[in-house]
Amino acid sequence: MTRGLDYGADYNPEQWPLDVRLEDVGLMREAGVTILSVGIFSWAMLEPREGEHDFGWLDDTLDRLHGAGIRVALATATASPPPWLTRKHPEILPELADGTVLHPGGRQAYSVSSPVFRDYALRMTRTMAERYGEHPALALWHVDNELGCHVPHDYSDDAAAAFRRWLERRYGTVAALNTAWGTAFWSQRYGSFDEVLPPRTAPTYANPTQQLDFARYSSDELLVHYRALRDVLREVTPHVPTTTNLMLSTGTKWMDYFSWAGDLDVVANDHYLRAHDPEGHVELAFSADLTRGVAGGDPWILMEHSTSAVNWQPRNRAKGEGEMLRNSLTHVARGADAVMFFQWRQSAAGAEKFHSAMVPHAGRDTNVWRRTVELGAALGALGPVRGSRVRADVALVFDYPAWWGAELDSHPTQALRYTDEVLAWYRALWRRNVTVDLVPAGADLTGYRVVVIPTLYCVTDHAAAAVARAAEAGASVLVTFFSGIVDEHDHVRLGGYPGAFRDLLGVRTEEFFPLLDGERRTLDDGTSSQLWTEKTHLAGAEAVRTYADGPLAGWPAVTRRAVGDGVAWYAATRLDETGTARVVDALLTEAGVAPAAEAPDGVEVVRRHGEGTSFLFVVNHTGADVTVATHGRELIRATDVDGEVRVPAHGVAVVQES
Ligand code: GLA
Repeated sequence: MTRGLDYGADYNPEQWPLDVRLEDVGLMREAGVTILSVGIFSWAMLEPREGEHDFGWLDDTLDRLHGAGIRVALATATASPPPWLTRKHPEILPELADGTVLHPGGRQAYSVSSPVFRDYALRMTRTMAERYGEHPALALWHVDNELGCHVPHDYSDDAAAAFRRWLERRYGTVAALNTAWGTAFWSQRYGSFDEVLPPRTAPTYANPTQQLDFARYSSDELLVHYRALRDVLREVTPHVPTTTNLMLSTGTKWMDYFSWAGDLDVVANDHYLRAHDPEGHVELAFSADLTRGVAGGDPWILMEHSTSAVNWQPRNRAKGEGEMLRNSLTHVARGADAVMFFQWRQSAAGAEKFHSAMVPHAGRDTNVWRRTVELGAALGALGPVRGSRVRADVALVFDYPAWWGAELDSHPTQALRYTDEVLAWYRALWRRNVTVDLVPAGADLTGYRVVVIPTLYCVTDHAAAAVARAAEAGASVLVTFFSGIVDEHDHVRLGGYPGAFRDLLGVRTEEFFPLLDGERRTLDDGTSSQLWTEKTHLAGAEAVRTYADGPLAGWPAVTRRAVGDGVAWYAATRLDETGTARVVDALLTEAGVAPAAEAPDGVEVVRRHGEGTSFLFVVNHTGADVTVATHGRELIRATDVDGEVRVPAHGVAVVQES
């Protein structure tokens, strides 16, 4: 029998007495659990006093899980330092931009730049590796936890020193830094690296290049910490793969995960649904595609999501009918080979006691438990999917430094949200069931038939050239407003906007006209636009849409230019949903891109390709039964499909196609 897809959760047995831990194993079997993350927040339990260890409970846990055939992603246990450590070494605590010290009492109260903390974390990691490296349950190392989750930026003195070292490596000389940072402005010229600080709270806008470099440094610095711990694990246990759980979603801005991916043996992601968003499943699909992008197309692990409500949003909505299964299998459809939750058993105490889990407070006689068991059975039946891949004809460029840059202060508008721009285009493609690869700026775009580039504010010459090459080679490329404006140092590309893409697009914008809250412009096809307009001259392109009202009436809002074997489109404004859909349809039609399958509105379809076989995932977000044309075998219900698969309201089907 083929092994199913992996299934599990964070497991925190240290929160429970022995009788509960013993009961857990039976329940895990019932649910079909195959893997658990253990020990993430266990440092204070494992080392209650400096140098004194208590491993008994963890030894027993690993033995018990192994006996039940469950594998373990074992943590380095470094995700939160124990109280004795922060009391002895308060200098390891991180600081905010205004000098506020982040104290212990929550979690993650450490500075990754603190050499003292680093030493303790390395020692703990080595202790774990030496003790458990040969344990038969050990399948994967889980380094720390959600690095940067609460403290993406640390402004402490240790961080300032690390930032200076990072700048010296980047620029070599202080003269080069002065040029890059444009310090001729506002008397900011530096005489030596020693004078440079992180962008701590200042009387007014901090130097924007300093802000951008601090964001780059901070992402790199967290990665450096990961690498240091990872290297110890590789040294002691070279046979065990290593990962850490990323937070790929529109809600996590500060870690450039594309630059982290090469250091992870397998990419693992945590994703939580935006409960306030009636189309949270679209953001979920986006995050799953982004995870696959970071993984370079390889299968990945969904390391955490929730069975139902979380505890940390303003309103913590319980999941609706079938939602947990749909969420889980959407991740699988988009490349996950394992589905895990935070957490196994809902805590009785602590800040996360109202966060759902696989075993809820109310026990087994609950919807959550029944759905947990049902999902385990579904994943058990999806073994054939393991290792298969998703293919896409459309690339959407998603770039962390461009996100940081686009949302800097002292810009034409403070209302621009990079992820809103990205999601607007992603959503239009999602509605057409066209699968999208999310790639960073500078990625090789050859082979894609459509390339979408929303608001890529800062762009290198190299990345701009890759976009032009894609159009020359035959792709339909769409660039949207406030793209190509500056180089990697946040220096404006002079001569008219959108600087780096001006020639490719055949346009020249002379001035921005951002709109006020609620203000709209009508376009000549009756659709509307908001947020942003600009005065754009045609310089080789033709106008596809023009403004019908406002000060720019008659000026182009959307343009198109034939380039080489392809086409370059420009959207100079934020189009409404209909306007966005029309442009997407035009791009897909001219590029000959088809959906994964024809399906009714609200039904999501994605295909994974294996060797000589393919798997059609149909996720029904509607309240009605639907059918989708296909042939083969539906794996969850184990039934043959001849012509069309019927997917129940709120349900999912996975057809191995013949
Ligand atoms: C994160 C953490 C977990 C838990 C969940 C709650 O993902 O990694 O420890 O706090 O959030 O949603």
